[in-house]
Amino acid sequence: MKKHWYVFLITAGMMAASCGQNTNNKDKIEKETEVVDGLGNQIGQALDRAAVQYKHMMTLLPEGEFPKTYHPKTDKFEGSGSGWWCSGFYPGTLLYLNEYNADKVLKGEADRALDLLKKEQYNTSTHDLGFMMYCSFGNAFRLDPKPEYKEILIQSAQSLSTRFSEKVGAIKSWDSKEGDFLVIIDNMMNLELLFWATAATGDSTYYDIAIKHADTTLKNHFREDHSSYHVLNYDPETGEVNKKRTAQGYADESAWARGQAWGLYGYTVMYRVTKEQKYLDQAVAIADFVLNHPNMPEDKVPYWDFDAPNIPDELRDSSAGAIMASALLELAEYVEAGKAEKYGQDAKQMINTLTGPEYIAAEGTNGGFLLKHGVGHIPENSEIDVPLTYGDYYLVEAMLRYLQ
Ligand code: GLY
Repeated sequence: MKKHWYVFLITAGMMAASCGQNTNNKDKIEKETEVVDGLGNQIGQALDRAAVQYKHMMTLLPEGEFPKTYHPKTDKFEGSGSGWWCSGFYPGTLLYLNEYNADKVLKGEADRALDLLKKEQYNTSTHDLGFMMYCSFGNAFRLDPKPEYKEILIQSAQSLSTRFSEKVGAIKSWDSKEGDFLVIIDNMMNLELLFWATAATGDSTYYDIAIKHADTTLKNHFREDHSSYHVLNYDPETGEVNKKRTAQGYADESAWARGQAWGLYGYTVMYRVTKEQKYLDQAVAIADFVLNHPNMPEDKVPYWDFDAPNIPDELRDSSAGAIMASALLELAEYVEAGKAEKYGQDAKQMINTLTGPEYIAAEGTNGGFLLKHGVGHIPENSEIDVPLTYGDYYLVEAMLRYLQ
C-alpha cells in the first residue's frame, strides 16, 4: 500500500465534495444564509415539494425496486432493480432532502433503499458504480461515518477498478464484443468514488486510475470547440482510438447535452481534488462551450442535443440543466471574478427555470418525481420527456448548493 501527501489534500478537498457536500438542515440554512431573494423562496418551496413528492413515490414503488421513471401519457410508474445505473440516486436524493428538512420518514426510506443497494458493491459488470454507490453511500458516510458504509465504498471502488485497462489508460464503460473497449464521457462521474477510496485507505491505486482515466479522456474525447464525443471505441491491445461516435446523442459529431454536462461536472471535480490547472481549463472550456452556444435557450435549460435538427422545436433535457447548474455553482468558486459572476448567474437562471411551474411537478403527480421533462435516450426511443432520478438528484444538489 502506497501513501502519498495528496491523500491529505484529497481529504481536505472532500470536505467540499459534490456527493459529499456539506449541507445543513432547513432552519439552519435559512438562518445562516438569510435567503430572502425570490429564487431562495422558490427553492424552499421546491425542496418542500420534493419531500411531499418522494413520500408519494414511496407509495408507488414496487417492493424490492428502485424508481426509474414515470410515463405521464400512460400514468405508469417504472421501477428498476438495484443493478440499474440510477439506483443510487434515490437514496442519495432522500439523504439530501433529509439533510435539509430532518424528516425521519425520508431518512428511514433512505436506509431501507441503502440496504437493498449494498449488494452492488461487488458488481464488476458496470462502470456506473460511482453513480450507484457514491451518490448513495458516499452521502450516507459523510452524514454518519459508519464503518459499514466505509467498507461498502471501498469494496465498490475495488470493483470499479477491475474495469481499468493500463493499455488504454481508461476504465471500460460498456461491455461489448471482443476487440471493443468502449468509454463514454459519462464515466468521468465515476472517478469521485476512486478519489474517496484513496483518501479513506491511503492506497494510491484508486487515485492513479482516476487520473489516468481523466487524462486519457482529456486527450481523446474532446473536439476543437471543446464539445465532447459521447462514445470512444479503443483498441484494447494497442490503446489506439478506433472510433468516435454517439449512442444517446443526435449524431456522431453532435454535442449531446447531458454528455457535455457530465464532462463539465467531471472536470470540475478533477480540479477540486487535484488543483491541476489543466482540469480547471477543461471545465471552463466546456462551460464556455455550453453557455455561449447559439442554441442555448435564454432560460438556460438545454435542448437534449445542441445540434438537434429542429431546434427550437426539440425537447429540452431538464436533467442536463440540473447537472450543469450544480457543476457551475462549484466551478464559480474556482475562477476569476468575471467568470464566477457569469457562471453564478447562469446557474441561477437554470435553477430558476427548473424550479418554476413548467418543470416542477404539481403535488401528487409525476409519479412522485420532482422534475419533469427529462430526456433519457431518444435514439432508442426510451425515456422521452419523462422524469429521471438523476434530474431530481442533481437539481436537489444544485438547490442546496445555491442556498449555501
Ligand atoms: N448514460 C447515462 C446517461 O444517460 O446520462
